[in-house]
Amino acid sequence: MGLYLSNISHAFGDNEVLDNVSADIPAGQILCLLGPSGCGKTTLLRIAAGLEYLQEGSVRIGDNIVAAGSTQTPAEHRGVGLMFQDFALFPHLNVRDNVAFGLTSLSEIEKNRRIQEVLAQVNMVEHARDFPHTLSGGQQQRVALARALAPKPAVMLLDEPFSGLDQNMRIQIREETLGILKASNVATMMVTHNPEEALFMADRMMVMGPNGKILQEGLPNEVYAEPAHAYVAKFFGQANSVTGVSKGGQIETPLGLVDVPDCEDGCNLEVVIRPAAIKLKIAGEKAKEIRADATGSEGVPIEIISARSLGRNTFVRFRIKGAGEGAEDFHCRHRGYFPEKPETEVRAHIRQKHVFIYHSDI
Ligand SMILES: Nc1ncnc2c1ncn2[C@@H]1O[C@H](COP(=O)(O)OP(=O)(O)OP(=O)(O)O)[C@@H](O)[C@H]1O
Ligand SMILES: [Mg+2]
Repeated sequence: MGLYLSNISHAFGDNEVLDNVSADIPAGQILCLLGPSGCGKTTLLRIAAGLEYLQEGSVRIGDNIVAAGSTQTPAEHRGVGLMFQDFALFPHLNVRDNVAFGLTSLSEIEKNRRIQEVLAQVNMVEHARDFPHTLSGGQQQRVALARALAPKPAVMLLDEPFSGLDQNMRIQIREETLGILKASNVATMMVTHNPEEALFMADRMMVMGPNGKILQEGLPNEVYAEPAHAYVAKFFGQANSVTGVSKGGQIETPLGLVDVPDCEDGCNLEVVIRPAAIKLKIAGEKAKEIRADATGSEGVPIEIISARSLGRNTFVRFRIKGAGEGAEDFHCRHRGYFPEKPETEVRAHIRQKHVFIYHSDI
């Protein structure tokens, strides 16, 4: 039983939040929804859950239309499991009773069996008698997942479920959650701000723009490698962006000429340059792979503004040499160590592969 949202639009007073949003999530699939703060992600989940009244469009779960026009099935009859960031565990109930909460229709024996089953799934059996405040953030998250899955929902709606966890715990819990969701064969819609998390979890990915419109929907790799919109291209980590006008099948950027084969002269373009597109080379260093697709083999001389080690690589902020104080700066991640004050000249090269070009007039 999948979740199917069709042509959903929603406004709070004059604030038009969702604009004709559709999504198909078959059973067993995970759709990750990304977008800037305030674009309407939580609102969409709440409409799917039945916590927000549907204004326009429809919500179908399996063969049942649960919301369309005057039909608005209450949340508790939709068979939907919720795991929202602020949907905390009940503090006065222990782990077992938190999980038991949604299992009202089962006999005592069935209930106990199901509780045991889901607690085992999330590895929390030995904590059944513990109260939430005695658990770590990760353990609480596991119990919240167990509570949501206990009634065997057809659909799971997750709103930034891992955002309260530290980096290591987050990676561990999301991997466990992915396995459990897949094993449960539910249709899942998950909201996240974190593009890496979306790439990891999603079977399909949907990026919403600030205006509540879907900008792109597709396989995670497709959305990453072929972003359909400048906004989507910039969403995957901070990217550099410059504008310019095409001429002779190329556009001049401060970092060199970039090919724009399908553009006639005079198009206003936005060039999004991902940090991965920029390679830095210190003069005199052995020429490491400046790839054949680098635009202009000479590169552009640059001045380092800052270089901060991130462990495996260095976050380098720089500006074009001679461009002056007020000029725009660029950034990239250099593999390994990079000196903040290099003794010889540094040049930046860009590779066409991680450069994306968009018409800025559209
Ligand atoms: N109950 C409400 N009444 C009025 N306006 C609301 C209500 N709920 C949300 N909004 C507004 O709708 C817009 C979308 O809110 P929503 O919570 O769906 O955004 P979001 O994409 O989940 O953002 P975030 O990433 O910050 O969680 C915001 O402008 C918000 O202020
Ligand atoms: Mg939200």
